[in-house]
Amino acid sequence: MTKKSVLPLLTVSFLFLGACGLEKPPASLEFPEEKKEGAAPAAAAPATAEAPADPKLAAGKTVYDASCAGCHDSGMMGAPKPGDKANWAPRIAKGIDAVNNNAIKGFTGKAGMMPPKGGNAALTDEEVINATAYLIK
Ligand code: HEC
Repeated sequence: MTKKSVLPLLTVSFLFLGACGLEKPPASLEFPEEKKEGAAPAAAAPATAEAPADPKLAAGKTVYDASCAGCHDSGMMGAPKPGDKANWAPRIAKGIDAVNNNAIKGFTGKAGMMPPKGGNAALTDEEVINATAYLIK
Protein backbone atom coordinates (compact mmCIF):
# COMPACT_ATOMS: atom_id res chain seq x y z
CA MET A 1 0.00 0.00 0.00
CA THR A 2 1.33 3.36 -0.96
CA LYS A 3 0.28 6.69 0.35
CA LYS A 4 -1.37 7.43 -3.00
CA SER A 5 -4.05 4.71 -2.62
CA VAL A 6 -4.94 5.71 0.95
CA LEU A 7 -5.50 9.37 0.26
CA PRO A 8 -8.73 9.15 -1.80
CA LEU A 9 -10.19 6.79 0.81
CA LEU A 10 -9.46 9.28 3.56
CA THR A 11 -11.05 12.06 1.58
CA VAL A 12 -14.20 10.00 1.08
CA SER A 13 -14.53 9.14 4.76
CA PHE A 14 -14.13 12.79 5.68
CA LEU A 15 -16.98 13.68 3.36
CA PHE A 16 -19.18 11.11 5.08
CA LEU A 17 -18.25 12.36 8.52
CA GLY A 18 -19.04 15.87 7.41
CA ALA A 19 -22.48 14.82 6.16
CA CYS A 20 -23.31 12.95 9.38
CA GLY A 21 -22.39 16.00 11.43
CA LEU A 22 -25.38 17.87 10.03
CA GLU A 23 -28.60 17.51 11.97
CA LYS A 24 -30.71 17.18 8.85
CA PRO A 25 -29.86 17.01 5.16
CA PRO A 26 -29.11 20.43 3.75
CA ALA A 27 -32.17 22.07 2.18
CA SER A 28 -30.16 22.66 -0.97
CA LEU A 29 -30.49 18.94 -1.72
CA GLU A 30 -34.20 19.40 -2.41
CA PHE A 31 -34.07 22.55 -4.47
CA PRO A 32 -32.71 21.42 -7.85
CA GLU A 33 -35.79 19.22 -8.45
CA GLU A 34 -38.24 22.04 -7.73
CA LYS A 35 -36.32 24.49 -9.86
CA LYS A 36 -36.33 22.07 -12.76
CA GLU A 37 -40.10 21.65 -12.57
CA GLY A 38 -40.72 25.36 -12.32
CA ALA A 39 -38.45 26.14 -15.23
CA ALA A 40 -39.83 23.51 -17.61
CA PRO A 41 -43.08 25.23 -18.65
CA ALA A 42 -41.33 28.59 -18.98
CA ALA A 43 -38.69 27.07 -21.25
CA ALA A 44 -41.35 25.36 -23.33
CA ALA A 45 -43.46 28.51 -23.63
CA PRO A 46 -42.02 30.15 -26.76
CA ALA A 47 -42.50 26.93 -28.76
CA THR A 48 -44.93 28.42 -31.28
CA ALA A 49 -45.13 31.85 -32.82
CA GLU A 50 -48.80 32.29 -31.90
CA ALA A 51 -48.28 31.36 -28.26
CA PRO A 52 -50.51 33.47 -25.97
CA ALA A 53 -48.83 36.24 -23.98
CA ASP A 54 -49.91 34.84 -20.59
CA PRO A 55 -47.14 32.36 -19.63
CA LYS A 56 -49.65 29.94 -18.09
CA LEU A 57 -51.78 29.92 -21.22
CA ALA A 58 -48.66 29.57 -23.35
CA ALA A 59 -47.51 26.59 -21.28
CA GLY A 60 -51.07 25.27 -21.42
CA LYS A 61 -51.12 25.51 -25.21
CA THR A 62 -47.94 23.44 -25.42
CA VAL A 63 -49.50 20.74 -23.24
CA TYR A 64 -52.80 21.01 -25.10
CA ASP A 65 -51.19 20.62 -28.53
CA ALA A 66 -49.31 17.52 -27.38
CA SER A 67 -51.87 15.74 -25.21
CA CYS A 68 -55.38 17.14 -25.64
CA ALA A 69 -55.79 18.43 -29.20
CA GLY A 70 -56.33 14.91 -30.55
CA CYS A 71 -59.83 14.89 -29.08
CA HIS A 72 -60.59 18.49 -28.22
CA ASP A 73 -59.58 20.15 -31.53
CA SER A 74 -62.16 18.21 -33.53
CA GLY A 75 -64.67 17.73 -30.72
CA MET A 76 -64.10 14.01 -31.10
CA MET A 77 -66.37 11.84 -28.91
CA GLY A 78 -68.05 14.99 -27.63
CA ALA A 79 -64.92 16.70 -26.29
CA PRO A 80 -65.62 20.44 -25.90
CA LYS A 81 -63.57 22.48 -28.39
CA PRO A 82 -61.17 25.22 -27.25
CA GLY A 83 -62.95 28.52 -26.78
CA ASP A 84 -66.42 27.01 -27.51
CA LYS A 85 -68.13 29.31 -25.01
CA ALA A 86 -71.60 27.74 -25.24
CA ASN A 87 -70.16 24.31 -24.48
CA TRP A 88 -67.85 25.52 -21.73
CA ALA A 89 -70.23 27.86 -19.89
CA PRO A 90 -72.27 25.14 -18.12
CA ARG A 91 -69.07 23.28 -17.27
CA ILE A 92 -67.42 26.38 -15.78
CA ALA A 93 -70.65 27.05 -13.86
CA LYS A 94 -69.78 24.01 -11.69
CA GLY A 95 -66.73 25.94 -10.51
CA ILE A 96 -63.26 25.95 -12.05
CA ASP A 97 -61.91 23.55 -9.41
CA ALA A 98 -64.45 20.91 -10.39
CA VAL A 99 -63.55 21.36 -14.06
CA ASN A 100 -59.81 21.10 -13.32
CA ASN A 101 -60.46 18.07 -11.16
CA ASN A 102 -62.39 16.35 -13.94
CA ALA A 103 -59.50 16.98 -16.32
CA ILE A 104 -56.97 15.58 -13.82
CA LYS A 105 -58.98 12.61 -12.56
CA GLY A 106 -61.00 12.00 -15.71
CA PHE A 107 -64.78 11.67 -15.86
CA THR A 108 -67.63 10.40 -17.97
CA GLY A 109 -70.29 12.97 -18.80
CA LYS A 110 -73.29 13.16 -21.13
CA ALA A 111 -71.06 13.81 -24.14
CA GLY A 112 -68.46 11.10 -23.61
CA MET A 113 -65.43 9.95 -21.70
CA MET A 114 -62.59 12.23 -20.66
CA PRO A 115 -59.57 10.09 -19.66
CA PRO A 116 -57.51 11.13 -16.60
CA LYS A 117 -54.99 13.81 -17.72
CA GLY A 118 -56.13 13.16 -21.28
CA GLY A 119 -54.48 9.74 -21.06
CA ASN A 120 -51.01 11.21 -20.47
CA ALA A 121 -50.21 10.19 -16.87
CA ALA A 122 -46.80 11.87 -17.14
CA LEU A 123 -48.41 15.33 -17.00
CA THR A 124 -48.35 17.15 -13.66
CA ASP A 125 -51.63 18.47 -12.22
CA GLU A 126 -50.39 21.99 -12.96
CA GLU A 127 -49.79 21.17 -16.63
CA VAL A 128 -53.33 19.79 -16.94
CA ILE A 129 -54.74 22.89 -15.21
CA ASN A 130 -52.78 25.15 -17.60
CA ALA A 131 -54.07 23.18 -20.58
CA THR A 132 -57.61 23.46 -19.23
CA ALA A 133 -57.19 27.23 -18.88
CA TYR A 134 -56.10 27.32 -22.52
CA LEU A 135 -59.15 25.23 -23.55
CA ILE A 136 -61.57 27.53 -21.73
CA LYS A 137 -59.81 30.84 -22.46
C1 HEC B 1 -59.51 10.65 -25.69
C2 HEC B 1 -60.07 11.95 -25.95
C3 HEC B 1 -59.70 13.09 -25.01
C4 HEC B 1 -58.44 13.57 -24.73
C5 HEC B 1 -57.10 13.09 -25.25
C6 HEC B 1 -58.64 14.68 -23.82
N1 HEC B 1 -59.96 14.86 -23.56
FE1 HEC B 1 -60.79 16.25 -22.32
N2 HEC B 1 -62.64 15.53 -22.73
C7 HEC B 1 -62.93 14.52 -23.62
C8 HEC B 1 -64.38 14.35 -23.71
C9 HEC B 1 -65.10 13.36 -24.57
C10 HEC B 1 -64.94 15.31 -22.84
C11 HEC B 1 -66.43 15.57 -22.59
C12 HEC B 1 -66.99 14.65 -21.56
C13 HEC B 1 -68.43 14.97 -21.27
O1 HEC B 1 -68.72 16.12 -20.91
O2 HEC B 1 -69.28 14.07 -21.37
C14 HEC B 1 -63.81 16.02 -22.23
C15 HEC B 1 -63.97 17.04 -21.31
C16 HEC B 1 -62.94 17.78 -20.79
C17 HEC B 1 -63.09 18.86 -19.84
C18 HEC B 1 -64.42 19.33 -19.26
C19 HEC B 1 -64.52 18.95 -17.81
C20 HEC B 1 -65.86 19.27 -17.24
O3 HEC B 1 -65.94 19.36 -15.99
O4 HEC B 1 -66.83 19.45 -17.98
C21 HEC B 1 -61.86 19.36 -19.60
C22 HEC B 1 -61.50 20.50 -18.67
C23 HEC B 1 -60.93 18.59 -20.37
N3 HEC B 1 -61.60 17.64 -21.09
C24 HEC B 1 -59.58 18.84 -20.40
C25 HEC B 1 -58.68 18.07 -21.12
C26 HEC B 1 -57.27 18.29 -21.10
C27 HEC B 1 -56.57 19.39 -20.33
C28 HEC B 1 -56.69 17.34 -21.91
C29 HEC B 1 -55.21 17.12 -22.20
C30 HEC B 1 -54.34 17.03 -21.07
C31 HEC B 1 -57.77 16.52 -22.44
N4 HEC B 1 -58.94 17.00 -21.94
C32 HEC B 1 -57.60 15.44 -23.31
C33 HEC B 1 -62.02 13.77 -24.32
C34 HEC B 1 -60.65 13.91 -24.28
